[in-house]
Amino acid sequence: MTIHLTINGKPFEAEPGQTILEVARQHDLDIPTLCYHKDLSPTGNCRMCMVEVKGGRFLQAACVTPVWEGMDIQTHSSKVVHDRKMTLEMMLANHPQDCITCDASGECELQDLAYEYQARAPEWGSKGTRYPVNSDPNPFIRVDMNRCILCRRCVLACGEIQVRDVWGIANRGIEEQIVAGAGTTMMEARCESCGQCVAYCPTGALSNKMSYGVARAHQVQRVTTTCSYCGVGCQFDLLVKKGKVIGVASSPDAPVNGMALCVKGRYGYDYVHHPERLKKPMVREYLIKKGMKKKVGGPGWEWVETDWETALNLAAGKLRETMDKFGAESVGVLTSAKCTNEENYLMNKLARQVIGTNNIDHCARL
Ligand code: FES
Repeated sequence: MTIHLTINGKPFEAEPGQTILEVARQHDLDIPTLCYHKDLSPTGNCRMCMVEVKGGRFLQAACVTPVWEGMDIQTHSSKVVHDRKMTLEMMLANHPQDCITCDASGECELQDLAYEYQARAPEWGSKGTRYPVNSDPNPFIRVDMNRCILCRRCVLACGEIQVRDVWGIANRGIEEQIVAGAGTTMMEARCESCGQCVAYCPTGALSNKMSYGVARAHQVQRVTTTCSYCGVGCQFDLLVKKGKVIGVASSPDAPVNGMALCVKGRYGYDYVHHPERLKKPMVREYLIKKGMKKKVGGPGWEWVETDWETALNLAAGKLRETMDKFGAESVGVLTSAKCTNEENYLMNKLARQVIGTNNIDHCARL
């Protein structure tokens, strides 16, 4: 059954069960949102998506209101725009006016909407900070609940995507706040530092400690790449400032993982510029020429840098030596879940067809 409705005077068709927001977005019509995210269950918290439905007594939240036959919707009537501006001002009343030093500035959804609707913090708003800044000892995630707008995206991202339920809601009314566990630290509340809550936070309430204060959004170049840690193939964006990787951000259209990443993918990037990172192949060489008994792995054997050709020739020569002496069956090949499927397939070919052994196994088959 097709539903016929009108948005801003234009006729549209929709499927039963679709919300007003879904139909509007399907047709590139703008309805602002803050608590809504396509990956998460809609909750109708923030009231930014309010629209006017002809015949209705109140404005309706587009993200949770299903369409019905003959619906006549206005997304930007003066009543709607006035209501959205007032909602923003209520949020700004309890929000620090520190965009100038906030890490999220330039990619903060609240800031963008305040600009669009020309909303300012009212005079009667709270002054100063209400909660401790950088309040959680988590090594990766910086928490500043003064900047929280209670949209609950962090709660849903942690519960629905990562299934850890670290974040929850405490208290009511003006005292309402997002807390870890029952008011514990994130780690005590089973956090595994995946950073999903940070990725979905629309403001600077949750941010990344490792890159905090390092760059403004417009100063970084985003380079989409594939994670190098395991064979799942998650994609993300490297945040690069002046040729240096300063952070990782979810790439919403990543085909394998969407916005989700694990702690290694999101925060394990400091090896890239680490001074001890190996950049060339190394072989062990016997450096003490006389006076000591030469024993493989014993004193005198040191790792030295070499080129790929030397390293590969050495490995191939040792393999050949072993095979000549003890036969191909004396060789075993162990591959890794850190490799891609294609690399594991090639190792399989190398073992069975080049070396001639069926002794091949994989570290994931424990
Ligand atoms: Fe609909 Fe928040 S986006 S209520």
